[in-house]
Amino acid sequence: MSTNSNKEFISRSEADTEAFAADLAASLPRGSVLALSGDLGAGKTVFSRGFARGLGILEPVSSPTYTIIQEYPCPGGGWFFHMDLYRISDARSALDFGVDEYLEDPEAWSIIEWAERISGILPPQTLHLRIQILDGDARRITVG
Ligand SMILES: Nc1ncnc2c1ncn2[C@@H]1O[C@H](COP(=O)(O)OP(=O)(O)OP(=O)(O)O)[C@@H](O)[C@H]1O
Ligand SMILES: [Mg+2]
Repeated sequence: MSTNSNKEFISRSEADTEAFAADLAASLPRGSVLALSGDLGAGKTVFSRGFARGLGILEPVSSPTYTIIQEYPCPGGGWFFHMDLYRISDARSALDFGVDEYLEDPEAWSIIEWAERISGILPPQTLHLRIQILDGDARRITVG
């Protein structure tokens, strides 16, 4: 049992991470914004794919690195916005493509990979998740 308010999940495989993300998606309302941080290859895109599955999205979800944002309609209504800000230098360039309008959409679930690029303009209700690489395929996912 953790002694602070952070919730921690240990994932042992890609499938574990996807299942954890899918469960979380099913428990979060529209308008939720998730900021993902973690090293290259930590599993942010794997997490996002699982999250999309939890929202009932059947389309394959891959890294949007070259497009910055991918929009997926959800079968139950609303949208899933998957953003990858790896190539964005700062909040100003993110605002240039309208990141604030995406993040304020009350009908959408948003996930931002490399959200630390825009930490200053994330909405106050943003849920922060950190994925750390442990040994081999193990990952520590911290929420809070
Ligand atoms: N427990 C795990 N959870 C998630 N991914 C895992 C796990 N174990 C191994 N992997 C592997 O780690 C890689 C994670 O890749 P992914 O593209 O999701 O990382 P990323 O954090 O999005 O990286 P980037 O910063 O480049 O976008 C995949 O190849 C996946 O198979
Ligand atoms: Mg990625």
